[in-house]
Amino acid sequence: TRVLSVASECAPLIKTGGLADVAGALPRALAARDVEMRTLLPGYPAVMKAVGSARVVHAWDDLYGGPARLIEAEAAGLRLYVLEAAHLYDRSGGIYLDADGVDWTDNAERFAALCRAGAEICCGATDWQPDIAHGHDWQAGLLPYFLKKSGTGVPSVMTIHNIAFAGMVEPSQIDRLGLDPADFHVEGYEFWGRVSFLKAGLVWCDRITTVSPRYARELTTPAFGMGFEGLISARSGDLTGILNGIDTQTWNPATDPAITRFRSFRGKTAAVRALRDEMGLPASNGPLAVVISRLSAQKGLDLLIEALPDYLAAGGQLALLGSGDRALESAWREAAERHDGVAVRIGYDEDLSHRMMAGGEAVLVPSRFEPCGLTQLYGLRYGAIPVVARVGGLADTVIDANDAALRAGVATGIVHGPDSVEALSLALTRMVELHATPETWSRMARTAMRHPVGWDVSAGQYADLYRDLVPS
Ligand code: ADP
Ligand code: GLC
Repeated sequence: TRVLSVASECAPLIKTGGLADVAGALPRALAARDVEMRTLLPGYPAVMKAVGSARVVHAWDDLYGGPARLIEAEAAGLRLYVLEAAHLYDRSGGIYLDADGVDWTDNAERFAALCRAGAEICCGATDWQPDIAHGHDWQAGLLPYFLKKSGTGVPSVMTIHNIAFAGMVEPSQIDRLGLDPADFHVEGYEFWGRVSFLKAGLVWCDRITTVSPRYARELTTPAFGMGFEGLISARSGDLTGILNGIDTQTWNPATDPAITRFRSFRGKTAAVRALRDEMGLPASNGPLAVVISRLSAQKGLDLLIEALPDYLAAGGQLALLGSGDRALESAWREAAERHDGVAVRIGYDEDLSHRMMAGGEAVLVPSRFEPCGLTQLYGLRYGAIPVVARVGGLADTVIDANDAALRAGVATGIVHGPDSVEALSLALTRMVELHATPETWSRMARTAMRHPVGWDVSAGQYADLYRDLVPS
């Protein structure tokens, strides 16, 4: 089966969040299942640099306001199509946001162009003919739409990584984007009076997936569906939740070049000490917890600031690495100044994230919603006990240390009610208490380190879904 994956980011070439990790890992995971996946990416400067001078396989005189070329290339072990379009992608700043943190005003054109290119690949623009198109999040939302309009029979899959981003555009743009105005209604791409790229994707695709079974159920409810719950419920027969995995080669404590390596939980002690030193945290008998996260309301880290005093008083410490929302960045800088037991690094640092997983004894993920979440999976693998909110993929991947689970030896972490300082505080207290009982703690950590977090099972589920869609 040949699948064209269309994504706005893809690790290790370009990344702002977990979407990139998933888009980057899937092709390799699927290769073992006889699925040939190629990935279409925008030609951002970092991507153009990585592909160098490669083969031009298609060209447009005018793709949303300027000339564009489709380049076929191989980089970082990935088979790529790169859409080179200087007027859309050749600029400094973020891939979605300008230097001031504001959305690029032409994001609609930038990602409509990507979808247009994807649809044309499916319609024969290249000599490689996909059987299926697979789009990720709103940036790929117009892909199923353009495909259906083109009349090609190539079916499409849409994966929801985060419903919070609907890809909203003013109706005045409809013509310019090449959409049929007749589809601007509630059964089409209209969403609360505006155009939603994501909605176009969810309406016109053949199958919908999301990144955990629990998030799939949550998406059908008003509390998590963000206005899409009706549409998603109506299509629940076409919806599957498939858990994300992590790259177990990059994230392997026994071989990780970025860390003081360890094979078993016992070997972790040196990494914990090294992290305290690096972060300037004093020696302590209490647990050292870490957070590695985008700083946005989704992640619930404002709740954690409020829960800090009690946690620190109980002897805990915290190291946080993150960036994003300016107000949260300064709140965390202040917290670090106020408390000896808190160390904060504002920024994005891949190597440091590995050292933190190695040196962290617990990893905190108090999200308000979390489609899957990856850092709790890194935590499991590195023996950093996850303390997570009972939402989405967090609840699907961590087994709470209640009495029964502890007795049965299956506990891997602590799960608490979401969106509540009290529930989070209580979870941190339980964590400190468990940590004070070394036999229980190390048993949990060993169980956590054995928990399967790779792509094996999930790659099989994607492969089954593709075969169901296009029987060979
Ligand atoms: P989301 O996609 O919502 O941001 P995930 O947990 O799925 O959440 O994925 C986040 C990814 O980004 C993980 O690989 C995490 O390690 C990484 N990450 C987030 N913030 C940082 C940071 N400041 N430095 C390094 N890596 C980060
Ligand atoms: C999103 C979600 C996160 C998920 C990631 C990859 O950004 O917020 O929970 O792990 O996508 O699917």
